[in-house]
This record gives sequence, C-alpha cells and structure tokens, in this order.
Amino acid sequence: MSLPSDRHADATASVVRYYDTHPINETQILRALADRGIDPEAVTASELSLHDQDHFGGLDANDLLIAAAGIRRDHRVLDVCSGMGGPSRYLAHRVGCTVVGLDLTESRVDAARRLTQRVGLDDRVSFHLGSALDMPFDDASFDVVIGQEAWCHVPDKARLVAECARVVKPGGVIAFTDILRRDGLTDDDMDRLAREMTFPVLGSLDGYRRLLEESGCTVELAEDLSPLWTRILQDRLAMYRSLGGETARQFGNERSAGWDAAYAFFVGLYGQGRLGGGRFVARRSAAA
Ligand SMILES: C[S@@+](CC[C@H](N)C(=O)[O-])C[C@H]1O[C@@H](n2cnc3c(N)ncnc32)[C@H](O)[C@@H]1O
Repeated sequence: MSLPSDRHADATASVVRYYDTHPINETQILRALADRGIDPEAVTASELSLHDQDHFGGLDANDLLIAAAGIRRDHRVLDVCSGMGGPSRYLAHRVGCTVVGLDLTESRVDAARRLTQRVGLDDRVSFHLGSALDMPFDDASFDVVIGQEAWCHVPDKARLVAECARVVKPGGVIAFTDILRRDGLTDDDMDRLAREMTFPVLGSLDGYRRLLEESGCTVELAEDLSPLWTRILQDRLAMYRSLGGETARQFGNERSAGWDAAYAFFVGLYGQGRLGGGRFVARRSAAA
C-alpha cells in the first residue's frame, strides 16, 4: 500500500493540479447557494453544510462518523486532507468542538479559510497547509483524527496511518472512511485511477486494519461500505454531469470531458465490484 518514495513528489503535484480544477469548488458552491436564493454574504453554517461536503453520503456520513468516534464538545479534532473544510465546519457547528484541518492543496486551504470566515466559525476551525505524510503537529495533540474519501490520494498508507497514530493522544480515536481496492482490480485499472483520479495506491479493508494495528491501535470498526457506495456513486455521477456546463466554463471543455470520462470509469468499477469503501474506527492504546 505504498508508492516508491521517488514518485511521491509527482503524486503530490498531480493531486494539487487535480484539486485546482475540481468541479466542486468555492465558486460553484457560492453559485449553488445563490441559485437557492441564499445570499452568500449572509449564509449560515447549516445552509453552507448542504453544499460543501466533498465525500459520499453527505451529512449523514458525517453524523455516523461523529457517533462512531464519540466526538464531544471538549475534543480537539484533526481533519486529515480537509479539502474546503465542509466536515471540519460541520463538526464544529454540530458538536461545538475545536477542529484543525490539514491539506496540501493551497487553493483548497484558502477556500476553506474564506468559507469558514463567511459563516463565523473561524474562532473554532483553522486550516494548515501541509502533507498528511509529515504532519506539522506535536505528538499526542488531538483527541480524534478523522478523514473522509481523501486518503485514497496519499501515496504511503503506512506512513499516513503512523502519522495519525503519532498525533492522536493515547486512548484517542482515528475514525475515517476511504475508497478501497477490492479483488479483481487490475493493474490497468489502477494505472488509470492513478492518472485520472490521482489515486497512486489504494488501501483495502484488511490492509488498513493491519496498518492500524501495527501503529498501536485497536480496531473497533472496519465496516464494508461497498454496496452502499455503489448506489451513492450513481447519483454522484449524475450530479457531476449536471455541473458539466459550469465545469467547462471554469476550466475548459477538455477538463470537463476528461472529468466525465474519468468519473464514469471510476463509478463503473464500483458496479463491477472492483472498488469499494470502508468505515474505520480505531483507538490508540492508552498505554502508548
Ligand atoms: C476529496 S477532498 C477532501 C474532502 C473532504 N474530506 C470532504 O469531505 O469535504 C481530498 C483532499 O485531500 C487532499 N490531499 C490529498 N493528498 C494529501 C496529502 N498527502 N496530504 C494532505 N492533503 C492531501 C487534497 O488536496 C484534497 O483537498
């Protein structure tokens, strides 16, 4: 579950390019709010939360992760690969905890900060530019570490999980969902996913379980979400297709057509049972 380290820099540059021209972005979110008759200058955290989540299953998925991880108001939470900060803001608004987001794409971090200020949550939610493979945080500095549909981009899962285990407090929780490889995924499929979706390597249900255990955690949940996500992703493809005109206006026809082909291929792999998803909850040993 890792790419040779001499290819990490290429993987990082590809991810940044990918998210700099992603169909879900700040401009598109503000337009979606305006289309619903919501003044973007007066938007509330609840209203924004319906448009700024870039993972599968919307706010229900956040609520499930919050419950599974036992996140409380007095917790300090780290959102690893936080994107535009939708889950971070939702957590702070819904639970009242403090959240720190970490992401390596500057345009995403900038957008996350602006959106957070817009809804007045910047006293409790902050964002750092940096890599999940070399986190700019002290050991044992968070009660909970979360991630949603983003660790698929990280080229070294062992180091990623070890970093999460390092920054979470002894007895603290790592809770995440991620896109997973399943039996039948071919090398050609993986090459295309790496090129078009910037997934350099993918974890598996057993692979993540093993890495969590090797990092000194007890796995409390490793749930197979594959059937659920196969249904959700059909709707998501339709959602992206409805944004096609806007994506073409923002980033050009070539990017829009390329996105459509790449996403249709990705969703097709779910239909064929070659890709799946998982929800994990693991607790760092209290004795660590
Ligand atoms: C799908 S988006 C995040 C979605 C977010 N969890 C949500 O639910 O709205 C994935 C994010 O992962 C970030 N990312 C990818 N590789 C990373 C890495 N190695 N370190 C930090 N962030 C990374 C990307 O820049 C991107 O913003």
